[in-house]
Amino acid sequence: MTVSLHSPGQINKLQLKNRLILAPMQQHRGTPEGHATDYHVQHYGRRAADVGLVIIESTAVSPEGRLYQDDIGIYSDSHIKPLSEVVKAIHAQDARAFIQLSHGGRKSKPLPGERLLAPSSIAFNDEYGLPFAASEAELEVLIDRYRRAALRSQEAGFDGIELHAAHGYLLHQFLSPVANRRTDAYGGSAKGRLQFVLRVATAVREAVGPDYPVQIRVSASDYDPAGLIPLQIADIVSQLEPLIDAVHVSSGGITPIRPLDVHPGYQIPYAALLKSNTALPIIAVGGIHGKALAERVVAEQLTDFIAIGRPMLEEPDFAGRLLGKQPSSIQ
Ligand SMILES: Cc1cc2nc3c(=O)[nH]c(=O)nc-3n(C[C@H](O)[C@H](O)[C@H](O)COP(=O)(O)O)c2cc1C
Repeated sequence: MTVSLHSPGQINKLQLKNRLILAPMQQHRGTPEGHATDYHVQHYGRRAADVGLVIIESTAVSPEGRLYQDDIGIYSDSHIKPLSEVVKAIHAQDARAFIQLSHGGRKSKPLPGERLLAPSSIAFNDEYGLPFAASEAELEVLIDRYRRAALRSQEAGFDGIELHAAHGYLLHQFLSPVANRRTDAYGGSAKGRLQFVLRVATAVREAVGPDYPVQIRVSASDYDPAGLIPLQIADIVSQLEPLIDAVHVSSGGITPIRPLDVHPGYQIPYAALLKSNTALPIIAVGGIHGKALAERVVAEQLTDFIAIGRPMLEEPDFAGRLLGKQPSSIQ
């Protein structure tokens, strides 16, 4: 069967009208209390028409876990109603809507009086400062934060959840030996480092039920000799497979070390590697902005879906051009 960008797709039981996804991108427009506003309704509604799925930006499960103080959150029931307006605007364009649930860990921007929490007391850099190693009691609270955020996501009408375990934020910090030096059940070995993510994914799955889509965004490489490599991430994905429905493949962010060669589609080999190791649908992202490249990687089944980020900010109809809906100069 030939697959194209136009082919319908599926995550868990959810049907998506095509293979294009709006990548999660923070808008820095949350209110001081972390609420979405009419800005988000307009922004996401305007970009939903041509994609099968919109993944809304990093949304904090806990106030101290906001990546920036102007992030939106879903740590209180009062966040549900404004987010439900965003969902309605996306559904009105015949797209589905996922929310990206996130906690920044050592890369958070807590307010004075809030704790900078991480697996271990190791700073990302001077800008963020030294985090507290979360106690086991604090980890139980965090797991419950994810559980409650998942229930609120369902209540707001989202069609699914993406757990943000990429870019060096809390879940990624637990997975990576660069940031996790714990000696308790949540560290010490690859198995221990997976425990927190397993517990979060289990809590979320139990909260939302078996048929509700839950996917994970991972960084396939830490770009750090002491960090994770793609084969280790493939192993982590295999162990999470009973709990999740799709994998969104990014890279980097656990340290300030950046990839040496960032060319169009540079993360596609990671997506392809993970795809060859799992039956789960895969989402590739990162500079996949050319029509020929996007069509080829889907047709060759190196990935199941393509997420598009930055061009959709500048040009809300960009996905439509990739689909050939408007005359296109995209090669
Ligand atoms: C302004 C901006 C905000 C972003 N915010 C998020 C975010 O909230 N969560 C996330 O996982 N990635 C975030 N990203 C990364 C994008 O989802 C995407 O992976 C990246 O932009 C590469 O895709 P692209 O080359 O199509 O832009 C952001 C990127 C940009 C440019």
